[in-house]
Parts: sequence; C-alpha cells; structure tokens
Amino acid sequence: MERSIGSRQLAAMLPDPAGARPAYRHLAQAISALILDGRIALHVRLPAERELAVAVGASRTTITAVYDLLRDGGYAQSRQGAGTWTALPEGRTHRGIARLLGSVDTAIDLARAAPGLPEEALADALAQVGPQLAEQVQTPGYHPYGLPELRAVVAERFTRRGLATLPEQVLVTSGAQHALSLVLGVLGRPGDRVMVENPSYANALDAMRRARLRTVSVPVTDHGWDVEIVESTLRQVVPQLGYLIPDFHNPTGCLMPDEERARILRAAQRSGTWLVVDETLAELALDVPAPLPFASHGPSAQVITIGSMSKTHWGGLRIGWLRAPAKLVTELAGQRVATDMGGSVIDQLLALALLERADDLLPARLEQARVQRAALADALASHIPQWTWHTPPGGLSLWVDLGEPVGSAFAETALEHGVRIEGGAYFSTDPGLFEQRLRIPYTVSPDTLREAVQRMAAALAHGVSPGSVDRRPHWVA
Ligand SMILES: Cc1ncc(COP(=O)(O)O)c(C=O)c1O
Repeated sequence: MERSIGSRQLAAMLPDPAGARPAYRHLAQAISALILDGRIALHVRLPAERELAVAVGASRTTITAVYDLLRDGGYAQSRQGAGTWTALPEGRTHRGIARLLGSVDTAIDLARAAPGLPEEALADALAQVGPQLAEQVQTPGYHPYGLPELRAVVAERFTRRGLATLPEQVLVTSGAQHALSLVLGVLGRPGDRVMVENPSYANALDAMRRARLRTVSVPVTDHGWDVEIVESTLRQVVPQLGYLIPDFHNPTGCLMPDEERARILRAAQRSGTWLVVDETLAELALDVPAPLPFASHGPSAQVITIGSMSKTHWGGLRIGWLRAPAKLVTELAGQRVATDMGGSVIDQLLALALLERADDLLPARLEQARVQRAALADALASHIPQWTWHTPPGGLSLWVDLGEPVGSAFAETALEHGVRIEGGAYFSTDPGLFEQRLRIPYTVSPDTLREAVQRMAAALAHGVSPGSVDRRPHWVA
C-alpha cells in the first residue's frame, strides 16, 4: 500500500502561515522539520498542491513555492505527473538517529537520559560470563524467546515485585523499544487507534507512526494523569492499543497512583484495549518505594508489560523484555524470528550476571541519581532562577518550564553554546505543544551538569526568541 499524508492531516501539523513573511518559506521550514523529526516518514506522498492550498488557507502559488523549496533543499522528490514524496537531503540524518548518536563534537550531551555502567560491575559480570559462554558455544545458540535462564530470572523478578509470572510469559528482546515494535507489529493494523500520553517517549511515538497507527492522546501534566479523560477516551474511542509510562513517566517524571492504575485497567478491560505498559523506569524510585507492576492492580489478561536494563544498567547492553500471556508471547517470538532470529547469547549471559547482582548494584545507582538531580537543581536555581520544575519522585530527568514558548529555539542556541538538549516539542504528539518545556536529564556527573547549566545560562543571555526556531541551521536558508 502506498503511503501518503492527507492535506488536512498535514495542515493540522503546520503553523498558521498568516502573518509569516514569506509564508512559503515558513511552511517549507515547518515541513522539513517534521521530516527530520520523523513526524512525517520518508517516501510518503505529499498532498496535491491544490488540496494543500485549500487546507492551509494559502494560495496555490504559495504551495508551489513550498514544494519547490522542499525539492531544492532535498526534502522532496517529484516525478512528472506522479506526485511529490518526502526525502532526506544528502548528508542529513533523521533526528531520531542523530539524537542516539549524540555529540561528535565537544558538546555536553543532555539529549539522552541514559547512564553508564560502573566498571567494577562490568568486570565481575564479564568474569562470570566466560565459562558459561564456553558451554553455550557448543549449542546452536538460537533462542527466539530469549535464553531460558534469563527468562526465568525476569519472571522471578516480576513475581517478587508482586506479579506472579511464569518464564513462558516472558520474551527477551533487544531493549524496550524492540519489545514495543514487536507488539505494534503483531497487535496493530495500519489505521488502528492507539491511545498515548502527551507528552510521551519520542521513539515510542515514532514507532507508532512507522506502524501507521493513529494516535489519540491523553494529557500528562506536572500533576500527572487525568483518569477521567483516560477512561472516557477508552470508552469513546475504543482504541486497539494504549501505551502508558506510569512509573516516573518520560519526560514529566510523574508517578501514577495505585487507584488510578486500577481504574485504567478496568476501563481498558471494558473497551477491550490492549494496554502496553512501559516500565523501563520503574526501578528508578528516588524518593518513594518502587512501584508495584501496573498489571498487579487489576484485570490484566490484555496487559503487556515492557521492561529494560537500559536505565538501571546500560543502554548499550540492548537487553529488554516483555511480559504477556504465553500465547501472545509465542506469536511475538514468531514476529521476532522474522527480523533477528533471536538476541545475542553473549549479551544475554552478561545481562543474567548483572541481574543476579542487581539488588547490590541498584542502591548505588539510585544514590548517584539523587546526587546528580540535586546538583542539577542547585545549578539551575543559581544560574537560571526563572526556570521552574516539579521535582520528580524518580526517573532520570527534570521537565523544566521555561516560562515562554522557546524550547526548540533554545535547544538550537544551546547547541551553539556546547550543550545538546531536547526541547519539549520533541516529546509531543502535536506540533507546537510543549514549546515551553525542556527535558534536562541528570545522567552525567555533577561537575558536568554544573558546566552544562553555565553554558545554558550563557545561551539564554545570548538571547532566544520564540521566532528564532525558524532559523534552524539544517534548512537551506
Ligand atoms: C520510557 C522509555 N521506554 C523505552 C526506552 C528505550 O529503552 P531501550 O534502550 O531498552 O530500548 C526508553 C529509553 O529512554 C524510555 O525512556
């Protein structure tokens, strides 16, 4: 099936061109930014000029100029009489990838909320892995469900946290993101509706766009979820899937109270919605006891729980998992065989060794996060006192209110001053929302955080205005 974006859908993602001079450049910049962000996928057919002109309330000449600019900049390609498709200019990287690759320069990287693994823990785990690997290499080494020993340990950890789990309910994946993609691939059909929080984890939203699901958002504010809105969305929209991050939500840091979990579980059961609960951050409880698994609060026959070692240990391990009914796990394993046959045995042995010591490692990791969070808060209070935030009870970042809608523009200016960071709009399902926010992770050392805040204060002093987002350097202008 050809992929296309309708004129009304595209118009809804664009800023109002009225008053912007020249309007065609303004619109072309916005479309190129959406392509770089991945909010519009590559090789997607753009609407006919005439239709887009009507949808945005601009003249046909303006839209012709927009498409000309997009083509000149490498963001679109046309075939005579056949239409215009999105493209990436030579040498430009999709923003999701650029963000993962991080700094190739000297910028302090606050774009990724991902800690490193202590050297000593790594050395111990590696020493344990050697002899086990010698045994494993005598076998074919394909484990589409995951290494049996690792499935058992993950199941046992769920059971200990209050959610009785058998190993056959666990699929070991290459990180939480892989788990989510597998679920979307098996349970979602293009055009299906998926309920998501707004803001939400940007790569999850990207996976949904790529699976061509339609997102329906429910708000998460500094005060958490509005359960009545979640319930009414489930009741009225009857989405096929719902994706939630109830534990130290990324990016807001909110923790969902137990009674809200129970209400949402009941509402999802009534609407027949599969809930995908991302517990990647669940163990990063800094000021409160670690939350119980979401699925332990009510009917859970249609709940898939996703977990990962990326935040408690190291993202580079690429070890995550999902917990689901055993029958679904079998289907999901079938899907994963089609993509990677199974995960690396070496990584899984390392993960097993680390998980066996997880209870010794975690307290130090939590203490480190507390110290770093305090250092970030102190530095912000001294150097940028006008910014505000609610201290999250856990997780790895502050969701800072800038007081004015300059998040994207500030991120550009901050990079010029040596700090790579994401504006709030990056986490939004709708363009333009959360421009007033910045996500600041506290995953680097206190000294580095202090230096980063000083550089951000210098960026602010340099001047950032809401309009300056239009000066994004990746555009042809
Ligand atoms: C909520 C959430 N889900 C998933 C991920 C991705 O995790 P993984 O590295 O295990 O794929 C992250 C990482 O930032 C995250 O914050």
